Amino acid sequence: MTGMKKKIPALIVGMLAVFVAGGVAILGAKAQSNTALAAAPQGPRLAEQQFKNIQVLKGVPADQVIPAMQFITASLGVECDFCHVQGAFEKDDKKPKQTARKMMEMTFAINADNFDRHREVTCYTCHRGNTDPVGTPLVMAEDAKEGFGEPKKAEEDDAKKPTGPTADQLFDKYLQAIGGADAVNKITSRVQKGTINVGGRDVAIEIFSKDPKKRVSFMHMANGDSITVFDGHEGWLGAPGRPVREMHGPDLEGAAMDADLHSAAQLKQMFAEVRVGGTEKIGDHEAYEVFGRRADKPPVRLYFDEQSGLLVRLVRYGETPLGQLPTQIDYADYREANGVKIPFRWTLARPSGRFTIQVTEVKQNVPVDDAKFARPPEPAGGPKE
Ligand code: HEC
Ligand code: HEC
Repeated sequence: MTGMKKKIPALIVGMLAVFVAGGVAILGAKAQSNTALAAAPQGPRLAEQQFKNIQVLKGVPADQVIPAMQFITASLGVECDFCHVQGAFEKDDKKPKQTARKMMEMTFAINADNFDRHREVTCYTCHRGNTDPVGTPLVMAEDAKEGFGEPKKAEEDDAKKPTGPTADQLFDKYLQAIGGADAVNKITSRVQKGTINVGGRDVAIEIFSKDPKKRVSFMHMANGDSITVFDGHEGWLGAPGRPVREMHGPDLEGAAMDADLHSAAQLKQMFAEVRVGGTEKIGDHEAYEVFGRRADKPPVRLYFDEQSGLLVRLVRYGETPLGQLPTQIDYADYREANGVKIPFRWTLARPSGRFTIQVTEVKQNVPVDDAKFARPPEPAGGPKE
């Protein structure tokens, strides 16, 4: 169970791992064979143009390489140095890196030969967070709670069947529960202060959001601010002593979603197709799952509390050439501010890490200087890795 033993990295590294996950969603959710990769649209810089020793991921847009690496890392439950020599990612000195290349070829071939080139099998299908996949079924570790032959499964399935509301009804109930479209649309800016908890440590955080879709968070670290900013089009991540990183693909998409102060009033327009998938227990309550497909983008899952109607969970996916990386956000502690109910606490979780933000103070419709949403400055003394 290598995956379980992962140590909590130093706070700052953890933050970066938490914030930096994603890539460009140029490729569709499926058809990820080698051939499909090579057919990526002209234009973006390719992996082999930017990196020194790309043999398998040729033709992939360069900014999908790191997301693919994050996918591998999450799938095997390892860190980058399992395969890479420190500071020289192009080197092939480590055996697992060479094995990983063969595994990529194998995985592409499995999908090409058996699944019509659809990306059904990924590294995670076999590895499940381990370097050494388990091939032998496990023995039963505990006494069975049910007697033999009881038709338990069927009942459970019945209970999970959608019991009523349509997606539109759930969207409406949610919008009503938080105050209605007018109240939501009246909000033009939001300033939140609170703490972010990562790995058991609390750090002060300030978040500024402003129309149209601008958002910046300042984490006040002992050695300076860690900044995540989205200006409505582009986004950057800045941390003390580190070169500024640009957001790509799903990072940008996610940031745009989080920055939208009016998304609750626009759910009906957001999706090309929606499906209610039944209920699931989140916290103490059952919640309805709505599965939403968007044009040319990975799907989103939304969970609405069965009783209150509030949005309690959102799961979105980032495309990588090897598979999708999930991001789950759980919303809680809804309180009213200027006529709208907003979550004062949320937990964002990814395969690479998680954090919880607890807001203690909110101001809305106050002026926020546009300068806040600019690219963060490079650290003094020039970029250093
Ligand atoms: C299980 C092995 C494995 C892990 C873990 C892994 N990589 Fe890789 N990495 C590879 C392989 C294989 C390639 C070469 C891909 C190819 O030839 O197309 C590669 C290539 C790269 C490259 C391109 C280097 C160059 O100049 O050619 C970078 C950068 C990179 N990895 C970064 C990372 C980072 C960052 C992490 C951790 C988040 C990571 N890798 C984790 C196997 C791994
Ligand atoms: C069909 C199942 C399957 C898939 C899919 C798969 N692997 Fe593996 N992988 C294995 C098995 C089984 C082993 C162990 C082989 C052994 O012990 O000799 C392994 C071993 C490895 C190792 C060597 C681990 C070590 O301890 O040195 C690496 C690295 C690896 N896989 C990377 C990947 C990557 C990256 C992907 C996705 C691109 C992937 N694998 C997809 C089954 C799979």
